[in-house]
Amino acid sequence: MRWLPVVKTENGESSIQERSSEGSRIGEGLLTEGSCDELAASPGSEMIGGAPLDRRVYFEVFGCQMNKLDAELMLGVLNEDGYELTDDPRDAGVILYNTCAIREQAENRVFSKLGNLKGLKDARPDLVIGMLGCGAQNHQHDIFRRYPHVGIVCGPGEFLRLPQLIDQAREEGQVAALDLDKPVRFARTKNLGPRPHHAFVSVMRGCDMACTYCVVPTTRGGEVSRPVSEIIEEADALVASGVKEITLLGQTVNSYGKRLAPGRRIGLQHVLCGLNQLDGLERIHFITSHPRFMNRELVEAMGDLDRVCEYLPLPVQSGSDDVLRRMLRSYTMKHYRKVIDDCRQLVPGIALATDFIVGFCGETEAEFAETVKLLEEVRFNGAYIFKYSERPGTPAAEFADDVPEEVKRERNQVLLEIQRRISQELNSESIGQETEVLVEGVSKKDKTRWSGRNRKHQIVVFPIQGDENLVGQLVNVKVRDVTSVVLVGERPGEES
Ligand code: SAH
Ligand code: SF4
Ligand code: F3S
Repeated sequence: MRWLPVVKTENGESSIQERSSEGSRIGEGLLTEGSCDELAASPGSEMIGGAPLDRRVYFEVFGCQMNKLDAELMLGVLNEDGYELTDDPRDAGVILYNTCAIREQAENRVFSKLGNLKGLKDARPDLVIGMLGCGAQNHQHDIFRRYPHVGIVCGPGEFLRLPQLIDQAREEGQVAALDLDKPVRFARTKNLGPRPHHAFVSVMRGCDMACTYCVVPTTRGGEVSRPVSEIIEEADALVASGVKEITLLGQTVNSYGKRLAPGRRIGLQHVLCGLNQLDGLERIHFITSHPRFMNRELVEAMGDLDRVCEYLPLPVQSGSDDVLRRMLRSYTMKHYRKVIDDCRQLVPGIALATDFIVGFCGETEAEFAETVKLLEEVRFNGAYIFKYSERPGTPAAEFADDVPEEVKRERNQVLLEIQRRISQELNSESIGQETEVLVEGVSKKDKTRWSGRNRKHQIVVFPIQGDENLVGQLVNVKVRDVTSVVLVGERPGEES
């Protein structure tokens, strides 16, 4: 099966360090990953073989990496049932949206798309429209009422039943699958992702935290870790199929192992240690760590294990202890600064990234000033900055969302400007140095250049020579020039 011809991801309102390759556009939050040509070359791919209309699926994905991975697992089960993808909704018997609920804007985008499908459904009553993922879980009670042309509402706990749900929707008109308590068990051996050399591997599902602004514990349920052996086996199969880089996924990935083996302390470092021994696996990342669970064993493992990259996203959300308390983040600035110091001491050259929410309920000028101070002081390599978006049903929805929209916008701009300058300054330190790049593909902005990432997750572009194909290869590049988001260079010996 081909990967989605078009994968659209809601990445947040503003980003300095782009989360996925160059294709993600600052400020727009929409990412189109991979062209049909690129993706046809993926090892898990087969060309469309002319499946009948009822087996043709149009699929769009919104949200974070977990949603992308879930989409990939869904494609796996659909593929086994004979479904194939199409990039034209008018050419599909099934239209699926894997949706996100993290901010209002993310949800509204999907709702307007759902609304637009009514005409198509009226014209073709056999069409099955499915709203899946976190948005579906979050709005389970009103989707069928607001959008009667929708046939499937399925949350992140039941998506592996998708082929049955499609059959059921065809027979009964509408079906909902919203149980979050049953374990989601899967073991994939094929990488159906857009990049043949990179795979996401889930180490846990759900989240046990209770950050007052956040909808994820409601949409994905409580934290459940996968056994170490299951993760290593999956990674081993993926590496055997050509994967060279693995990103481990979890909402609080560094709390991995909780309740896994009573009486024994299993942690993410055990998974990293196992993966580090897989022949052929070059790079390991893990996202997203929570400051509260950052412990010395894990930081030491990062420093000691050669395949684990020197890159750590560690969302802080605010530089003010009072705001953190209202957010129920369960750490203080003192703790956060200590974690940063330990990371810098034990993992030389580590690149740090973070997330901020500006304009959270009651955020004063003085509290915001503490965030500015933290940003200037830590000098993160990258930061995502989000304006607070009230999520109905969360504890913070009971507080007053009292920071005016223009103040949120202003604070967002202030942080973005500072981060842009710092990213540029930190990137400039690479000028004249060589850096090892894992090539991801042709740069979308400049077809004469390869684009990839180095171990610090910085995007690096360099010229394509002749008809070479470097996709998936490790290449040394000498950095000549930088912007706040990209390093530009050439292979040593090829300087112009
Ligand atoms: N589990 C991760 C993050 C998941 S959501 C963690 O705890 O770090 C990704 C980011 O979205 C968060 O870090 C936060 O900055 C942002 N976010 C979450 N809920 C939000 C809301 N209601 N409004 C604005 N931003 C939000
Ligand atoms: Fe949401 Fe907090 Fe869990 Fe992250 S740790 S997913 S922000 S509740
Ligand atoms: Fe969105 Fe769900 Fe991810 S709410 S950010 S898709 S966990």
